[in-house]
Amino acid sequence: MCGIVGYIGKQKAAPILLDGIKSLEYRGYDSAGISVINNQGGVAEAQVEKAVGKVINLENKIKSRELLGGLGIIHTRWATHGGATEANAHPHSDCAGNIWLVHNGIIENYKELKNELISAGHQFKSETDTEVVAHLIEEQVKSLKSKVQSYALEDAVRLALKKVRGAYALAIIDKREPEKLVAVRNSSPLILGIGNDEYLVASDASAVVKHTRKVIYFNDGEMAILTPDNHRVVNLENQAVDSQPQELDWTVESAQKGGYPHFMLKEIFEQPEAVENCLRGRLVVQEGTAKLGGLESIKDKLREIKRIHISACGTAYLAGKVGEYMLEEYAGIPVEVDLASELRYRKPVFDNHDAVLVISQSGETADTLASVKEAKEKGILTLGIVNTVGSSIARETEAGIYQHIGPEIGVASTKAFTSQVAVLALLTLFLGRQRQMSLVTGERIARELQRLPELIRKVLQSEDLIKQIAVKYQTHNNFLYLGRKYNLPIAYEGALKLKEISYIHAEGYGAGEMKHGPIAMIDQNLPSVVIVPSDSVYEKTVSNIEEIRARRGPVIAIATEGNEDIKSLADDVIYIPKSLEMLTPILSAVPLQLFAYHVGVLRGLDVDKPRNLAKSVTVE
Ligand code: AGP
Ligand code: GLU
Repeated sequence: MCGIVGYIGKQKAAPILLDGIKSLEYRGYDSAGISVINNQGGVAEAQVEKAVGKVINLENKIKSRELLGGLGIIHTRWATHGGATEANAHPHSDCAGNIWLVHNGIIENYKELKNELISAGHQFKSETDTEVVAHLIEEQVKSLKSKVQSYALEDAVRLALKKVRGAYALAIIDKREPEKLVAVRNSSPLILGIGNDEYLVASDASAVVKHTRKVIYFNDGEMAILTPDNHRVVNLENQAVDSQPQELDWTVESAQKGGYPHFMLKEIFEQPEAVENCLRGRLVVQEGTAKLGGLESIKDKLREIKRIHISACGTAYLAGKVGEYMLEEYAGIPVEVDLASELRYRKPVFDNHDAVLVISQSGETADTLASVKEAKEKGILTLGIVNTVGSSIARETEAGIYQHIGPEIGVASTKAFTSQVAVLALLTLFLGRQRQMSLVTGERIARELQRLPELIRKVLQSEDLIKQIAVKYQTHNNFLYLGRKYNLPIAYEGALKLKEISYIHAEGYGAGEMKHGPIAMIDQNLPSVVIVPSDSVYEKTVSNIEEIRARRGPVIAIATEGNEDIKSLADDVIYIPKSLEMLTPILSAVPLQLFAYHVGVLRGLDVDKPRNLAKSVTVE
C-alpha cells in the first residue's frame, strides 16, 4: 500500500509534497496525484493534478502551473481496487470538490457503502474503494450542518469512519477549512512530523526526516487535527490522546527500510501484517469458508471443476506445490503443478472441467503469462493469485485473488510466498466447502488462519538464535534441505532462498528420498536442514535424521515447540508454534528466510539485489 504525504505550514506546500513523495517512490506504485488548497484572495480553491506512471509525470504536469498555498496532500497509488488510471489516482473528492483525501489501505466494505451513497444521490468519479470515504464525510458534513451551528471537518471525519471497515491511513483537507489538515490511521502506517509552525504527515519517516526529526507515530484509531500553529491527537471517540513526540535518528535511506538494514529483512518482519492484509475481510469463520470477491463471477463454474493445473515459476511455483497438498487433501480436487516454463512447451492434456491456476507476485513473469495464454487458447478456465493489481497476468486471467500485501522490494520472495500460501488456504476453504468439506473442518481451518499473524510473530522472535546458527554454518559451501509432504516444497524453498541470497549450493530433497541417492553425500561436511514438525510424517522424518546422524552429518532441525526429543537428534533446533499441518509451511518458511538472509549478510552480499537476479523475470 503506497505513499502518502500531507503538509500544512507557512511554506509553499507543493515543492515539499513533491520532494516528500519522491522519498516514498521506493515502495513501488502505478500512479500519483496532488491537491493543494490556494486560499489567497480569500476564495479557497483546490488545485488538483494526477498522472499515471512515475512521479516525474505528475511533476511535469504541474510545472506549467504553479500550485500556491501552504496546505496540501500528495499520493503514490499501489492499486487494489480499480486499475492504474488517472481517474483512479488519488486524491479523491466528494461530489462538490470541497473535500480531498488520499488513502493507503483497503476499505473492506466499500461496495455496500458505495451502493448506499449512490442511492443517496452521490456521483462517483472512480472505481476505487477510497472514494467512498470522501462521500461519507460529505454526508456527515450535511448532517452536522443541519444539527449544529458550527461543525469541524474532524467531526465529520470521525463520524464517517465509524461506518468504515478496513485498513486506512488517510490525509484529508477541505477547501472550506483552508487552515486544517486531518490525518487518521487504522492498520496502514502513518507518521506525524512536528516542525516549526508546520506539520507533515507521511506513510513513513523517509518523507519527514528532511524537515524534522520530531515525530509522533500514529496508533490505530488515532486522528491528528493540524493547523499551522497547533496539533491535537484524538481517538475516534474524540478523546484526547497523550502521544509523546520521539526523536528520529534515521537517515532517509534507513527510514525507507523502516529502520531495518535491508528491505528483505523488513519484508520478512512484515509477514504478520502482510498475511493479516491478505486475509482481511475474507474469512467467514461461522460458515467455515472464505469470501473471495474475485471469484464471485465464476463460483458456479468452479463447482464443476474436476482438476486444477497450477503453473508458476520459482518461489511462486513452490507455493503452488504446497497448494497441491491442500487442495487434494481438503477440497478433494486432483492437482498437477507445473513449472510455467515447462507447461507452455509440453503437451498438457486438458479437459473442459479443468482450470489453470497461475501464481505470480509481479503478475508479469513471461513464462507464467505464456502458460495463461496457452490455457486460454484451449478454452480452459484461468485463475490467478497475483499481488500487482492491473498487471498483465491479472488482466489475462478470467478471475483471481489479489494478495493485497503491498509492494515487495527485495528480489527474494518472502512475504509474497507466505501470503500466496495463505491465499491457497483460502481457495482450499472456498472450493472445499463447495464440495465435501464439513462446516467443522472449515471452521477449524478458518480459526487457525486467523491465528497465523500471531504465530508468525512468534517465529520471528527466534531471529537471534537463527543468526547464531548462520554464524556457525556460514563457511559451508553445500547444504541439503529435507522435508516431507506439506514441507517438501519448503525444503525446496529454503534451498532456493539460500542459493539466491548467499550463492551457496543448496539442494531441496524429499526426506523419503534419502536412501535413493543423496545419503551418499552425507558426512560431517554436509549440513542438512530438516523440516520436521510434529505432523503426520514426523516419525518417518526422524528416521531420516537418524540416518544422517549415523553418518556424522550435522543437522539443523525446524521442529514444533515443546518437542524436547529432537534436541538429542539435531545439532541445532529452531522451533515453530504448533498449527494445522496444512499451515506449517507458512511457519517453517520464515526461519529458512532468516537463515538465508543472515548467511548472505555474513558473506557481505547484497541481499536486496542478488547478482544476476531480477525482481520480475519478464523475458523467457
Ligand atoms: C524468489 O525468491 C525469486 N525472486 C523468484 O523465484 C520468483 O519467485 C519468480 O521469479 C516468480 O516471480 P513472480 O511471483 O513475480 O511470478
Ligand atoms: N485501495 C486504494 C486504491 O486502490 C488505495 C491503494 C493504496 O494503498 O495505494 O486506490
